[in-house]
Amino acid sequence: MFCGDIKTRDYDLIKKQNATPIKIRKILLKSTNFVSYYDMRIKTNHCEVLFGEITWNSLNSCVDTYGYSSVYVLVDRNTKKHCLPYFKNQVNFSFELLEMDAGEENKHIQTCVLLWNVLSEKGADRKSLLINLGGGVVTDLGGFVACTFKRGIDFINIPTSLLAMVDASVGGKTGIDLGPLKNQIGIIQEPKMVLVDNSFLQTLPDDEYRSGYAEMLKHGLIREPDYFKTLSAYLDREAILPHIYHSVEVKAKVVTEDPYEHNLRKILNFGHTLGHAIESHYLISNNKKRLLHGEAIAIGMVLEAYLSTELTALPLANAKQIKNVFGSIYPKVSFDAETIEAILAMLTHDKKNENGNVLFVLLAAIGEPVWNQSVPESLIQKAFDFYAA
Ligand SMILES: NC(=O)c1ccc[n+]([C@@H]2O[C@H](COP(=O)([O-])OP(=O)(O)OC[C@H]3O[C@@H](n4cnc5c(N)ncnc54)[C@H](O)[C@@H]3O)[C@@H](O)[C@H]2O)c1
Ligand SMILES: [Zn+2]
Repeated sequence: MFCGDIKTRDYDLIKKQNATPIKIRKILLKSTNFVSYYDMRIKTNHCEVLFGEITWNSLNSCVDTYGYSSVYVLVDRNTKKHCLPYFKNQVNFSFELLEMDAGEENKHIQTCVLLWNVLSEKGADRKSLLINLGGGVVTDLGGFVACTFKRGIDFINIPTSLLAMVDASVGGKTGIDLGPLKNQIGIIQEPKMVLVDNSFLQTLPDDEYRSGYAEMLKHGLIREPDYFKTLSAYLDREAILPHIYHSVEVKAKVVTEDPYEHNLRKILNFGHTLGHAIESHYLISNNKKRLLHGEAIAIGMVLEAYLSTELTALPLANAKQIKNVFGSIYPKVSFDAETIEAILAMLTHDKKNENGNVLFVLLAAIGEPVWNQSVPESLIQKAFDFYAA
């Protein structure tokens, strides 16, 4: 692992590795205290998230060492086209390809049935390995397929979207939607490892990049005001690498302390109580444009920031600041009365319900979340007014 002064050490590294311009940019990122992201790893309870050069070597030696009977790689249409060729160049083992359609609307049980059947037909057994190469839909669903096939086979996540790199692929939440209701069916089980190679971001569409950025802003809001401030000036993919690493650090700390979401892990749901209801509503509304996960939770975070001013003493100035930051990055969505009513109906199904209550994560200050908060429905209407103003 290389830490410390980038200047001398990393220039050596550049020379040694005959680095390409992209790698050089990676190495020379910003401050002298930043790690170079070569050979970096972050540990959670049962898993390591690997960054940089060690990722592919580690994957190759893992497959070699564990003596898997067969290896399967799950892709969706887009990651098949954009990510699989690069993946093939990095690995030295043979594998069989599994494919699914892209997008949240395919994160459901029928896709699992299809994949379980293919695995079964191809003779996969308990010593098989599944590698999920894709965004959060592929890692969530692929993880669930792996955890349930023959009572559980090993899986490895290789996130290819920003959202999956900083959030979805880490922490072991696997799962699928039930109808339009998000993540209702699932298991918490960590992958064998997670490999983060930011080269995949080069082909990610801009709106998908923005979607992942929302989870990073969330990490700032729930843990570190300075991180939120840094990310408030929207950073492009050239500048994002150290922050991907940092977001994984934030998430890893939380999930290591509370892997099964008894307490602290709930803070990762900031923006998601209303965000999921909004996402679900748009998922089933044929006449409306789909909202990406990050777009929906960005709105959820503005709404829940307002609720925090009413219920947990977040200063209104902070809620306005949060609204302005999200407003500068994400397109504004207008909600009519009927839509708000439908979203409120979705809320009653939210997975965070306990004893019939819809519980929220709110903020007492930026960086200071409080969880298990009940919210009267009338305030939610006011939150939508705040968002619209
Ligand atoms: N498990 C968790 O802890 C957790 C956390 C946050 C979000 N999630 C879940 O993650 C999902 C959202 O993840 P997402 O935004 O990655 O969605 P996604 O998997 O649908 O990926 C977004 C789109 O980008 C495409 N894509 C991915 N990588 C690409 C690349 N390198 N080049 C070109 N196209 C690429 C995909 O094919 C897809 O069309 C949601 O289902 C959400 O519930 C899970
Ligand atoms: Zn999320």
